[in-house]
Amino acid sequence: MPGLLLGDEAPNFEVDTTHGRIRFHDFLGDSWGILFSHPRDFTPVCTTELGRAAKLAPEFKKRNVKMIALSIDDVSDHLAWSKDINAYNGDEPTEKLPFPIIADAKRDLSIQLGMLDPDERDKDGMPLTARVVFVFGPDKKLKLSILYPATTGRNFDEILRVVDSLQLTAKNKVATPVDWKRGDRVMVIPSVPEDEAKKLFPEGIFTKELPSGKKYLRYTPQP
Ligand code: BEZ
Repeated sequence: MPGLLLGDEAPNFEVDTTHGRIRFHDFLGDSWGILFSHPRDFTPVCTTELGRAAKLAPEFKKRNVKMIALSIDDVSDHLAWSKDINAYNGDEPTEKLPFPIIADAKRDLSIQLGMLDPDERDKDGMPLTARVVFVFGPDKKLKLSILYPATTGRNFDEILRVVDSLQLTAKNKVATPVDWKRGDRVMVIPSVPEDEAKKLFPEGIFTKELPSGKKYLRYTPQP
């Protein structure tokens, strides 16, 4: 079955993009990576999403995350659309965006990665791409997958928030609770025994008392 599951290695596809031809693994290098797909060029929701992604590019760079978009049109359409995206952002209407857009006019990559939305079709009845977000770690394995239908735009603040969580939890034996944001306290993961937790988190652990008497709700300041 096409598609990618958590822990799968990113396929090393070779594609044309607005920044030239790339091989995906070379593009990622040792960085984190985010691949986000779009139904089509010159569509309203996609334009707002790519505009926001362009504005947030410095934030992704700070986090060592390489950005790359995909839409099922060709490079010349992507470049013309980029002018609209920059104009939408109130910037010079140039073809330059801070990340490449993959050309996938034949949908080869969208099919391989399981990105098509069966409910949204073009005038020829062909499915459009859904709004997929894949985040890859420096080991090129899939760390996060989000799948929205074409008709619902994503929240890029949320995407940055999950990148913060992924990077924090990759390095520390913690998990981030509901609505967590950078700087908030985090939870000690259940597999860490009490004595190890005390050593790992010298800033202290607060354990909430619960009716079950089980001591699993353990908070610690963000490492
Ligand atoms: C949009 O980007 O606005 C869009 C694309 C495909 C279906 C619905 C909306």
